[in-house]
Amino acid sequence: MSAVVGLVPAGGSGERLGADRPKAFVVCAGRPLLEWSLDVLREVCDRVIVAAPEGYDDGENFVRGGDSRSASVRNALVAAPEAEIAVVHDAARPLVTRDLVERCLAALEPGVDGAIAAAPMSDTVKEAAADGRVLRTLDRSGLWAIQTPQVFRADVLRRAVERDAAALAAATDDASLVEELGATVRVVEAPPENIKVTRESDLRIVEALLAD
Ligand code: CTP
Ligand code: MG
Repeated sequence: MSAVVGLVPAGGSGERLGADRPKAFVVCAGRPLLEWSLDVLREVCDRVIVAAPEGYDDGENFVRGGDSRSASVRNALVAAPEAEIAVVHDAARPLVTRDLVERCLAALEPGVDGAIAAAPMSDTVKEAAADGRVLRTLDRSGLWAIQTPQVFRADVLRRAVERDAAALAAATDDASLVEELGATVRVVEAPPENIKVTRESDLRIVEALLAD
């Protein structure tokens, strides 16, 4: 069996949530948001490494987060030289399931370098100019909203995150950096509950679902 290592970017400040502490450490349904994801990842991975903000980064398998999300992923990956498969998962998505992680791992067939959780677009998608004028309506069939977990062959992810700070900061997910190498990434349909906590209203929805 290949060494499977979980990498959890938890190094953000949670500006849009506006809590009294970094988002990953905000208590949700009785425990820090981060803990929900760690429970699931630890069931599937040989080891899980968390990239956390300064002051929250001590303890075994915790490293200091970076200036951007992808820089945090890189810091965690550097701490896992044994990793053959990397499972990247945002601390901000506490409703991840073991089944979803396992389906992403299973999608990593020969010739596939990355498998990423995604939801088919349910809203109509339009492109608009800066002033709000609609430019066009996109064909939403074939469009996916991308989430985490994102599972990669670790050596491919290592090459993908070997970029300067600006390129890492510009990446909105890790798969885009892997795609830029010309590597093959596929989507894996996620359950609709795998939502991300961004704002206070998300926290309330997630809290209700976790309490269930
Ligand atoms: N993250 C990180 N390191 C950073 C920035 C973000 O590890 N420098 C992590 C966050 O902790 C979170 C995930 O990446 O688990 C997704 O980022 P996001 O939802 O944007 O969280 P924050 O950056 O903390 O929130 P905000 O953008 O509102 O400040
Ligand atoms: Mg952010």
